[in-house]
Amino acid sequence: MLIDIRSDTVTRPSVAMRQAMANAEVGDDVLEGDPTVRRLEARCAALLGKESGLFFPSGSMANMTGVAVHASIGTEVALDEAAHLIYGEMAGVAALCGAQVRPVRAGAGRSVMSADDLRGSIRPPSKHDPVISCIGVENTHNSSGGKVVPLAELRAIRELADEHGIPVHMDGARLWNASAATGTSLADFGAIAHTVMLSLSKGLGCPVGAILVGDAPTMRRAHAIRKRFGGGMRQSGILAAAALYALDVNLERLADDHANARVFAEAVGSIEGASVVPPDTNIVMIDLPPGVSSADVVARAERAGVLISEWNPTRVRGVAHLDVDAAAMTQAGAVVRDAIQASVAAAR
Ligand SMILES: Cc1ncc(COP(=O)(O)O)c(C=O)c1O
Repeated sequence: MLIDIRSDTVTRPSVAMRQAMANAEVGDDVLEGDPTVRRLEARCAALLGKESGLFFPSGSMANMTGVAVHASIGTEVALDEAAHLIYGEMAGVAALCGAQVRPVRAGAGRSVMSADDLRGSIRPPSKHDPVISCIGVENTHNSSGGKVVPLAELRAIRELADEHGIPVHMDGARLWNASAATGTSLADFGAIAHTVMLSLSKGLGCPVGAILVGDAPTMRRAHAIRKRFGGGMRQSGILAAAALYALDVNLERLADDHANARVFAEAVGSIEGASVVPPDTNIVMIDLPPGVSSADVVARAERAGVLISEWNPTRVRGVAHLDVDAAAMTQAGAVVRDAIQASVAAAR
């Protein structure tokens, strides 16, 4: 059987999760509301220390709504230049919010934008320059290898944002992982942002869904925008029940994924010319030796029974998740190591 570690989104709902879905109490969430969805929204809002939550079909739609409630047409959204909102959401900030992206480069020695990096992007008021109407942060930070942005850094970003009266949206697709890895509560992370998106279909193992939280007036606007994006769902309690089950059962096991990511990284080991980014959480990025292509390594690993993803032409990604255990991650690491070494030999 293939070991699939392309992403933490490839998990299949367990029998117990499917049972919870089958037993869900439902209603029409576009009409008078779905009781199970209401419970999920309230529970997530409370976890994040916010007034209100809203259930979405995807992280991308929840993220874009989170940006749209803050950003206005003809302004800028400041984001880490490697943010998922820039590279992974079909230019939605421009196409759907009418704002342009202001990419902020992480300073030397850092892989994620800091408050200092951001400070240089905020220009004084001018007759010519667009203003920044929203600052976006991402935690954990996918493209840097699931790095946790520490609470102190996020607080510094929020302080800077407050100085300039700019709202902050957090892409917390994997904020659950950041919290599990650091012990920082979701509410402490949540306090630094006006809106937070969290994915349910990644580490928590749900088939579908994301949640957006914020204060009540902001979330009323989010509700209208979700409807405009076509995100109103009907008997969505079936999906919310999976998420409630995941909060009960899967949330507390995320540290296992982080341990398994380390197991994988260790099994890949040190290969001359390659660099394995030490994982903070469940994502492992591997920068390949010169002359070796991601496509070749991915194809070789697949022939040997392991699916990893091609992150860019010279970087591959493996992600630990609830459907792979430590033994499978050890095996996957050895296969990827062999694939890289075979690719190096073939390139000579
Ligand atoms: C950091 C980050 N944000 C947002 C998303 C979007 O989530 P979805 O795939 O549910 O639209 C992803 C998905 O991979 C992600 O990794």
